[in-house]
Formats: sequence, structure tokens, C-alpha cells
Amino acid sequence: MTPPPAELVAHLEDHGQHHALAGWSLLDPAERVQLIEELMALDFAQLAQLYRDREATYAVPEPHRIDPLPGVRPDEPDAEAKSVGEKALERGEVAALVVAGGLGSRLGFEHPKGLFPIGPVTGKSLFQFHAEKVLARSRRHGKPIPFLVMTSHATHAETVYFFEKHNFFGLARETVHFFQQGTMPALDLATGRVLLEHPGRLFAGPDGHGGTLTALAKSGLLARLADSGIRHIFYWQVDNPLVKIADPTFLGHHIRDRADVSSKVIPKDGPHDKLGNFVLIDGKLAMIEYSDLPDELARSTEPDGRLRIRAGNPAIHVFDVGFLSRVTEAGLPFHLARKKVPHWDHATGDIVNPAKENALKFERFIFDVLPLAERYAAVETARHEEFAPLKNASGADSEATVKRAMSDLAASWLKAAGVRVKDGAAIELSPLTALEPDDVAGMKLPGEVADGTVL
Ligand code: UD1
Repeated sequence: MTPPPAELVAHLEDHGQHHALAGWSLLDPAERVQLIEELMALDFAQLAQLYRDREATYAVPEPHRIDPLPGVRPDEPDAEAKSVGEKALERGEVAALVVAGGLGSRLGFEHPKGLFPIGPVTGKSLFQFHAEKVLARSRRHGKPIPFLVMTSHATHAETVYFFEKHNFFGLARETVHFFQQGTMPALDLATGRVLLEHPGRLFAGPDGHGGTLTALAKSGLLARLADSGIRHIFYWQVDNPLVKIADPTFLGHHIRDRADVSSKVIPKDGPHDKLGNFVLIDGKLAMIEYSDLPDELARSTEPDGRLRIRAGNPAIHVFDVGFLSRVTEAGLPFHLARKKVPHWDHATGDIVNPAKENALKFERFIFDVLPLAERYAAVETARHEEFAPLKNASGADSEATVKRAMSDLAASWLKAAGVRVKDGAAIELSPLTALEPDDVAGMKLPGEVADGTVL
């Protein structure tokens, strides 16, 4: 049997990770090569550091250090900002980036979430709605908008196949760029050793949506985009079919303010709305997840009765390409989570199904770039116009609520154009038909539309 390379053995021994080779004799030559590559690519010093720091939790600061996000622009039409955004689109300076590394497991859908059939009438996929918005927007402004799809190990092959099968939903093949986020190994909580899924295979999960930046840079895509004149990247999450992709007014605010990052902000429904919260911590822009916001602060109100901390995060941003190139070099911090991870025990040869948390997993979050931004713009938007995320199998943020929100938005555009729509009707508007209410107003429409209408 060929032994593992001596250099690798020494490297693993130095870091107390020699057990990773325990299954070596069970592997075929191809698996051995793969394991060597996987282990050589790991930064064991970084893993050791993360393990050492495991108790230094990302403690939420004392409430007195947290302030509301100032300067949020109201949700109002702004013809000048819109025109600035439209000009950038006409010059071909904008790319669209969707993060789609997640599976729909929480929905009982064991595929990439972007494949979920969400059209209230047609059952079109989330990916199709997004792709058609990119297509319609690029047609409108006469320049292709590169569509960047971030996948993960778990979603890549099926996502690429889905786009190919559907002819890229009408987009030119060369304008769609798939790139894969990285992975991070899980560490044994008790020892800091990497966990093995089975002999010769590390247990590794996606490195979080903050991995977008590293993956963009590593794949060479960020440099290619910059070289081809792209200056702004519009970012959103695959689970939200209402997003206004490359919204010209939002882009215009971002450009006029010469912002490094700009974000859409949704006023929270109540103190415990399940959204991240844009805040200032010690005067610096930051995000606090709803589960971390101290209750007293979550409930505190302004004299006019509005919540003090009310800027919710729909995860819609615009990034300046130069800014991204600068911050990717610095790297974002890892957040750590304690999880139950089934694994192969190299000592006994058994698969262990732990009863309680036995592992540390690490993820980066995209919003950790916020404190690095020197200039920042926040623009308020209405939830019913732009945010209906698909997260759960039932109840809030489920298939039923998302389809309802899509139908209701379509109905509101039709009603504004004088069309009668029955309450509760399932209505679907293709992005290729209308991107905004004005597009509907310009159409030849019937006096009334029935349940199940697709326009
Ligand atoms: C997230 C935000 C929250 C925001 C909410 C809006 C975090 C920690 N919180 O919550 O502030 O208000 O969305 O819907 O993100 N993804 C990847 N790769 C990964 C991890 C996630 O591509 O490694 C993608 C998923 O496919 C999904 C999106 O990121 O599109 C969000 O992930 P999810 O776990 O659903 O975030 P939430 O906890 O719901």
C-alpha cells in the first residue's frame, strides 16, 4: 500500500489532526488523491485559532452601545436617482448576484431552493423569476447584466443542469456565471479535531453567504467583472421572488452617495419580527440578528410610538466593485455555531449519531462587510413590494404566504391600472411582461381578470 505523503503526515501531526488519515487503507487511489488535496487546502493554524477562541462568543454589546441606523432614505419616487441608476445600466456597469448555496431542506424540498416551483399559477421556479427579471431589465436598458449565481457544493451540479435544461431562461449563456462558495470543516467540540463523514472524507459545510466574497475573488470573476467595466453588484437571496433586481432608483442612490455598500431596509412589523436589524454599534454600522437583539431594546419605542430599532434586513444590497476587491483581501470573521454532527469514529470504526451538540461549525456573513464601508446608503422599501422570503414548510414565510404575496402585488398593479381583480385570486405577472406598475399601466388590459390569470 502506498503510504500517505510524509510531508502531509508531518503537517497533520504538527496540528494534532493525524486521525484524518485513519481510513487511508480503505481508500482507492482516486479517493486518496482527493483526501490529500482536501487536507492540503485546509488552514489548520486558522482552525486551531478558531477552536481556541470558541468561548469568546460574539457577545451582543450592552444596549447603551447600540443605536438606531440613522439617515434611512424614505421610500419615495426620486426621478433624479432613477435616472442616475438607468444611465449606469445603459453603460453596462451593473451585475446581478444571487446567493443560492442553500437546499430547501426546511421546506421538505431536497433540491437547491432556487428550483422551488413558486409561481402562484404557472409553478415557475424561483430561478426562473430571477432570470427573467435580469433579462427584462437588460433588454430595457440595452446592455447585458451579468447574472452571477453563487452555488455551494450541495447545489452546484443540479443548479447548472437546471439552467441548461431551461436554456438559461432566455439569457445568453455567456452572461450567466456560476461560482461555488467554499466549505469549512466541522470540528469536534471536545478536542478541536476535524470530524470525518466517513473514512477519507472530512465533514464540511458551506462557509456561509459571507463566502461569496472569497469565492468571487478566488474564481477570478471579480477581477474579470472589474476589467469588463462592471462597477456595481446588486446582491440578493434566492428565497425572495419579490426582489426588484437592479432597481434603478436604488442604484441611483448608491451611485449619487458614492457608497461602498447600500442596503434596502424594511420597517419591522413588531419587536420580534424575524429579520436582522441594521444598527450602529459604538457609532459603526452593523447587523444584529433578531435572536440576538436584547428584548428591552427590541421593544423600546420613539416618542411617536415607532420602534427605536426598526430597520429590518431583507438582504438586498449593492456593492461597489472596488470596495469588494479591497475587503476580500482582509477576509470576514467567522461566526460559530454548536451543532449535532453525525460522523465516523476512527477509533471504533462506527458512525456516531450524537444526542447533543458535539461539533463546531463556522460561517461567514455577508453583512460583516458593513462596518468596513466608509460610505453607506440605506433606502427604505415596503415589505409587500419587495420582500416575501420562502423559508418554512408551513406558517410564516412558507409557500402559501409567498404565493399570496406574489398574487397580491400583481393584483395591486392591475387594480392601479383600473382592472377589477377578485380578492384572494391567484394572479401571476411575468417579469417579461412587467417589472413595475408603470409597465402594467401602459398595457392593453381586460376590465376584469379571473382567478388563475397569467399575464
Ligand atoms: C437571513 C439573514 C437575516 C435576514 C433574512 C432575510 C443571516 C444570518 N441572516 O436570515 O438578517 O433578515 O435572511 O430573509 O443570513 N446561503 C448561501 N450559502 C450559505 C448560507 C446561506 O448561499 O452558506 C444563502 C441561502 O441560499 C439563502 C440565504 O443565503 O438564500 C439566507 O440564508 P438563510 O439561512 O435562509 O438566512 P436566514 O437565517 O433566514
